This record gives sequence, C-alpha cells and structure tokens, in this order.
Amino acid sequence: MNKDFLCEEKLNNLKREFEKDLEKINKSQDLETIRVKYLGRKSLINQFFSYFPNLSKEERGTWGKRLNILKNKINSILEEKKKDLEEKEERVDLTFPSQTLRKGSVHILSLTIEKICKIFEKLGFVIIEGKEIEDEWHNFGALNIPLEHPSRDVFDTFYLEKKYLLRSHTSPSQIRVMENHKPPLAVISPGRVYRPDEVDASHSFMFHQIEGFAVDKNLNFSHLKGILLYFAKEFFAPSVRLRFRPHFFPFTEPSAEVDISCIICSGKNLQDKKCSVCKGKGWLEILGCGMIHPQVLKNCRIDPKKYQGFAFGMGVERIAMLKYGINDIRLFFENDERFLRQFNGL
Ligand code: PHE
Repeated sequence: MNKDFLCEEKLNNLKREFEKDLEKINKSQDLETIRVKYLGRKSLINQFFSYFPNLSKEERGTWGKRLNILKNKINSILEEKKKDLEEKEERVDLTFPSQTLRKGSVHILSLTIEKICKIFEKLGFVIIEGKEIEDEWHNFGALNIPLEHPSRDVFDTFYLEKKYLLRSHTSPSQIRVMENHKPPLAVISPGRVYRPDEVDASHSFMFHQIEGFAVDKNLNFSHLKGILLYFAKEFFAPSVRLRFRPHFFPFTEPSAEVDISCIICSGKNLQDKKCSVCKGKGWLEILGCGMIHPQVLKNCRIDPKKYQGFAFGMGVERIAMLKYGINDIRLFFENDERFLRQFNGL
C-alpha cells in the first residue's frame, strides 16, 4: 500500500462521492446499497482502517477519531434520509384504504323548491326565474298596489338606487311574463324575496316564495281550486283537505288564503286543543291566491274580456317547516351541519 493511501484529499473525495450517491436515492430500499458501500465490512472507510498498521501511534489516534466521526455522521445521515423517504412513501401508499369522503347534499330549501316545481311541471306549468332587483312598477304599480295603499307597508322593502328595490314578493314575475308573452300561459316562478321584517322564529328579512299563475280563455276559480288541491295532495298527503278563506290582495279579485287540514292531527284534536302544530285549530295556512285582477291584465295589455287568470303565491320556508316539522326559520340560514345533514337523501 502506498504512503498516500490515507490522506486528507481521499477523505474529502469520499465525502463528496457519498453526497452524490445519496442525492440519487429516492427509494428507502435503495439506501441499503450506499450503506454497504460506505459502512459495510468491505467499505471504503474500513479499507482506510486496514492501513493503520502503517501509521504511527499518534497518527492512528487522530485518524481513528476522524474516521469514526465520519462513520457516525454517515450513519445518522442515512437514518434520517430513511425516515424521510419512508414518510413520503407512506403518504403515497396507493394500497392504503381510502378515507370515506363526506358527501355534501342539496339544501332542504332547494329540495323543497324542486319538489314543488316538479308537481306543477307535471300539470304543464313552465318554470321561469324572475328578477330579485325590481322596479317600483313591477313590484307595486302593475300589481295594482298604488303608492298610498296600506298593503304597501308590509311589502315596503330595501330600496336601492333610483326606483329600484329588492322585490318583496314573487308576483312581479307575473307581470314580466305577461308583458312579454301571449296567453295561454301556465308559469311557476320560485325565488328569494325581501321584507323589512325583524328576524324571529317565524320571520326573516329574506325568504323564498313560489309564484304560480295561469292565463287563458274561460279560466275560473274552480280551475285554481283543482290545481291547488292536486298540489297539496301530492306534496303533503293524499288525505289532505283544503280550506279557502276570503282575503284581500290588490292584484287578485276575488282573493283567498288557503289552509290545509293539519298534517299532524288532521283537525281531529279540535276539541282538546292538544295538537302543537295547528294549536288545536285543525288548519294550517299555506298560501295566498285569487283570480288575477282585470286591471293587472290590462296593465300587461291582455284583454280581461277575452282572458282570465288565476295566481297563487306560497312561502317555501313555511311549507318546508310544516312538511318536515321544523320549528324555527333561522335554522334554514345558519348553515349548521347538524341541521342540514338531517335532510340528506330525502
Ligand atoms: N304576493 C302575495 C304575497 O306575497 C301572495 C299572492 C300571490 C297572493 C299571488 C295572491 C296571488 O303575500
């Protein structure tokens, strides 16, 4: 063995070679080859040790120390790299059982709107979307609600610039369709509406309505009754009964509010007033309706002598609350998953 077998340069070369070798490794299994090369029995470092008999006692001491430090260092670098690689390999282990993904679901209000619209679609109604930002004419004037009319108070809403406002009901959809389309018409129009209501368990400044209306020759109140009864039986239960109470809306004449027989007690608890849903009344209000006022038809250039129309409007939250036994309107808007998840798969 020549004199230079063990020297500074060789040691540095060894370190550099080790670093290069290490860089090329990207699988933990392959680390074993470098471990054998640098730390194994026939490794380069061990070959250095075999040169020791040629050294003085002093030199043996210093080189021995240096070589051992190097061995330990290489060992710990390899251990660390092994840990890193194994961690990464674990992360991409394609054979690992997958986590079950939590599926989202349709919001109960969207679901209710969809169900209601489907029933009317079966009857030949077409679904249209109205505008959430309306002008005063479509929200009030064309619907026969004059400026000074008291019924305008409950509808008075959030005004935007000029004469624009957030609509207070879906009835402007009637006007928009009748202005642009000739009868016969049968239309259903769901969407958001806004009112200056204080929020509590049964009120919200924003809620959803579904407007429905039809215009044709010889339409009368019994057509309206037939359509609504069909809807109530399909949506609530085949045994449900309807009650029409005379009411006033400026845009329908005659007008009525419609109740369904209580879906919990069917009106049977009338005497002992036990039912908590209808409070013993036996009836639950679900919508407002009537024959479209002749003036409203005229406002849309439809001749009321030739054509008649009926219209109805229902609050989606209220209907969903009745159907699914929900007791607070705020639950719809709080996005509490514990509430929303209950309607998965309906
Ligand atoms: N627009 C009325 C409301 O918001 C409901 C309604 C619609 C009544 C159509 C009659 C006819 O209260």
